Amino acid sequence: MNQRVNEAVWEMPEQSVASYVQAVMECYRQHINPSLAALMQFMGFDSVEVAAEGCVVRDAHGREFLDCLGGFGVMTLGHRHPRVVAAVKEQLDKVPLSSRVLFNEPQARLAERLAQVTPGALQCCFFCNSGAEAIEGALKIARLATGRTHFVAAQNAFHGKTLGALSASGRAVYKQPFQPLVPGFTHVPFGDAQAIADALTEDTAAVLLEPIQGEAGVIVPPDGYLREVESLCRQRGVLLIADEIQTGLARTGKMFAVEHEGVCPDLMCLAKALGGGVMPIGAIVGTADIWKCLEPNPLLHSSTFGGNPLACAAGVATLEVLTTENFPEKAATRGAQLMNALQAVQSDFPDAIAAVRGKGLLIGVEFTDEDIAGLVIAGLAQRHIIAAYTLNNPKVIRFEPPLLITEEQIATVAAAFREAVQQTMALVADL
Ligand SMILES: Cc1ncc(COP(=O)(O)O)c(C=O)c1O
Repeated sequence: MNQRVNEAVWEMPEQSVASYVQAVMECYRQHINPSLAALMQFMGFDSVEVAAEGCVVRDAHGREFLDCLGGFGVMTLGHRHPRVVAAVKEQLDKVPLSSRVLFNEPQARLAERLAQVTPGALQCCFFCNSGAEAIEGALKIARLATGRTHFVAAQNAFHGKTLGALSASGRAVYKQPFQPLVPGFTHVPFGDAQAIADALTEDTAAVLLEPIQGEAGVIVPPDGYLREVESLCRQRGVLLIADEIQTGLARTGKMFAVEHEGVCPDLMCLAKALGGGVMPIGAIVGTADIWKCLEPNPLLHSSTFGGNPLACAAGVATLEVLTTENFPEKAATRGAQLMNALQAVQSDFPDAIAAVRGKGLLIGVEFTDEDIAGLVIAGLAQRHIIAAYTLNNPKVIRFEPPLLITEEQIATVAAAFREAVQQTMALVADL
């Protein structure tokens, strides 16, 4: 790997390292989430991360992993992008967390930059701390702006795991234990505009969609789908909310995935990559017209940490890097290379791999069987590649590395993937 993490970060005798790793994992088992700890170990991730840079994560043993998961889409700029780290360090020495009563400049600048880069008439922002929180806020704003309470969303969608976001999401296994959820959500097949037309009623406040479904297994809708949904929404006076939490900020080869079809939503939700892989931050961006509904009471929706100066400084630096270093183009070029490499493996293993699909550097590989996908992830981990399945479709392994992944690193990923599939299929044949 040509991008090596800081050599000086971790020096410890191997024996002490082993007991350090055991101690950290034991804390997970006793105090965090024992079954998550077991799952991580089963997937082959039985170590502790101690340093990261670019596309590379280093564990306590000094092993380097090529990161093809990127914190579930957070690491668009890679780990610890120097311009984002510098901006956050500078802000840390000024005002890290806001007084909340004086104006804060990083928040003002980030809102202004988002208004400039987002499509159409999007120009007002509410800042929060995560994707699910952005969805919650967007649902509330849509209800307030329209005076209606119902939503149309897509089957298998993933919008987060707080109550409102979960109600909008699609996978029963995450929803069932928490019933009753928020009422008023109708779910229709993704990619079918007629199904949306049929589901809209007098009570529909908004249609909520991911432009490309991420956790459903990287599902790209048919060409023209989003445009049709947009015009349906306009005709019926319904708002369109784009969940760009995973697809946004250059990941798919455009700054926002709705731009592939020239669509302008009324509300857009962002998070993940907005903090540049350094700070957590989420945002709802809406039109000035919609924002009027918040005017009667400025504290109708709020968040103590939302819009804090550290996170916003990271956001401003992130947008600077994305635009000046041409990240959308990087995603398109490297995405095509990775897609070709993965498709070449698919054509050699048609019994194992049903499809390879995606846009830019959001790529899903669908296996014919969920267990094969699990074993391939473990095989990739053995070869020091970090990957994971999509949350609402465990048959699909997603590849969403930092957009600065090199051609050489893509070749490394493809070779490891081929070996992992080969090894898994040999294992399955022996059963
Ligand atoms: C499309 C989409 N929306 C919302 C979320 C929820 O974001 P968070 O985990 O930050 O709450 C995710 C997370 O994976 C996502 O992919």
